[in-house]
Amino acid sequence: MQENELINELKQHVNTPLEEARQGEALALEQVVEAQNGRHFYIESYGCQMNFNDSEIVASILQKEGYGLSKDYESADIILLNTCSIRDKAEQRVRNRLKVINQVKKKRPDALVGILGCMAERLKTKLLEEEQVVDIVIGPDAYRDLPNLITEAGGGQKAVNVLLSREETYGDINPIRLDSNGVTAFVSIMRGCDNMCSFCVVPFTRGRERSRNTFSILAEVQNLIDRNYKEVTLLGQNVDSYKWTNPETNEVVNFAQLLEMVAQLSPELRVRFSTSHPKDITNEVLHTIAKYENICNYIHLPVQAGGSRILKKMNRTYDREWYLERVQAIRKIIPDCAISSDIIAGFCSETEADHQETLSLMEIVQYDMSYMFIYSERPKTLAARRYEDDVPEATKKRRLQEIIALQTQHALMRNKAHVGKVYKVLVEKESKRSSDDLCGRNDQNKMVIFPRGNHQPGDYVNVLIESCTSASLKGKVVD
Ligand code: 5AD
Ligand code: SF4
Repeated sequence: MQENELINELKQHVNTPLEEARQGEALALEQVVEAQNGRHFYIESYGCQMNFNDSEIVASILQKEGYGLSKDYESADIILLNTCSIRDKAEQRVRNRLKVINQVKKKRPDALVGILGCMAERLKTKLLEEEQVVDIVIGPDAYRDLPNLITEAGGGQKAVNVLLSREETYGDINPIRLDSNGVTAFVSIMRGCDNMCSFCVVPFTRGRERSRNTFSILAEVQNLIDRNYKEVTLLGQNVDSYKWTNPETNEVVNFAQLLEMVAQLSPELRVRFSTSHPKDITNEVLHTIAKYENICNYIHLPVQAGGSRILKKMNRTYDREWYLERVQAIRKIIPDCAISSDIIAGFCSETEADHQETLSLMEIVQYDMSYMFIYSERPKTLAARRYEDDVPEATKKRRLQEIIALQTQHALMRNKAHVGKVYKVLVEKESKRSSDDLCGRNDQNKMVIFPRGNHQPGDYVNVLIESCTSASLKGKVVD
């Protein structure tokens, strides 16, 4: 079958699940106002965008069961924390939060406390021993079972489900958008990760990689378009390995094809995606981005480290040369594409020379933005089992500071290159600094701040950039 025929065939399927999704949502929204069973849950999320989106899936599951959504943990019947294990600090934050929640539980012993997500999966029943306040422990693939666990815990027993699944994608569940600006939304397209980077806990907490049914993704996006959302971010630990086989036709849909289908749903919809893996991002994906104006020219392409020796030890399965070749391909195929990265300072055995390689790679790529971290050993990972966490804390910190300083320079330089140019900006919300200003992002994912005028969130405006910092652009609307 030709690609276009495949797209048409897939589009025909969109209507069926979409109608179901709309009904599901109408029901759920009524329940937000008033819980059918008189009980309310509160949910708080930590970690990656995927986790925030999972909380929206959990909200949908609970609302279908009649639970209402509460914005106040002090009065909620069920207090849920959707947790992250990526670094030790992320877990400490949750443990500190549990101390505060313990005060609530002392006043209201009937309130139930649930730990969801990666920490639940990593620590399992150990969490119940370590944190007496916890009643429910539920892993990322078990959320459909949450209503049962709530009932069980309500009966006075501790309730646990940390089973991982090879199939679960929650494809049929239309997420309830929490804390939404009504303009931008996340859509998960796959779950889990098969990559086994030696530093990373994710394969242990989120299980095997699986891709979601293409029809259900298109249906969810169409539903967002119908409700006037203007931007979707397709989410996965490794979006470039998206691969879904239609069981009826055996046709395979890859990430480039999925991107194209999503982009074709509406030219008014902006499409973003995260995260790309340097070993998997194909020229087909790059050409698809270049072909569609509404697929944003921004790629998050985490390098982790700049030198091939450390990359090998990290089990990233690419080397410095491969990464730089991919960056060159991006620059050639999408000339105005912004690129961002994740960088880890002080991985096991990292020498000063290895660190210099990271800095020199940054000098070559000149990232628009980076998330930068100190290496934190995670139990069970290959690095924890095989390598010594031998870079002294002070050295890790100093290297991180050097990385941050260089990144700040590059971000400022990249932002300065935008000054004097006009960009189409999707208005998201009021600026944090001043209620006279609005803010939104340009194609390259840069935050742009400008005077409000008569504009509203959801509008597209053309903004002439007049000044910048390393973090944002400032300008005025022009027509
Ligand atoms: N220590 C520090 N940073 C880590 N990351 C993942 N695992 C660790 C760890 N053990 C970072 C990586 C990844 C990002 C989501 O978090 O850079 O891309
Ligand atoms: Fe944290 Fe990774 Fe789990 Fe996301 S997948 S919540 S980043 S550990």
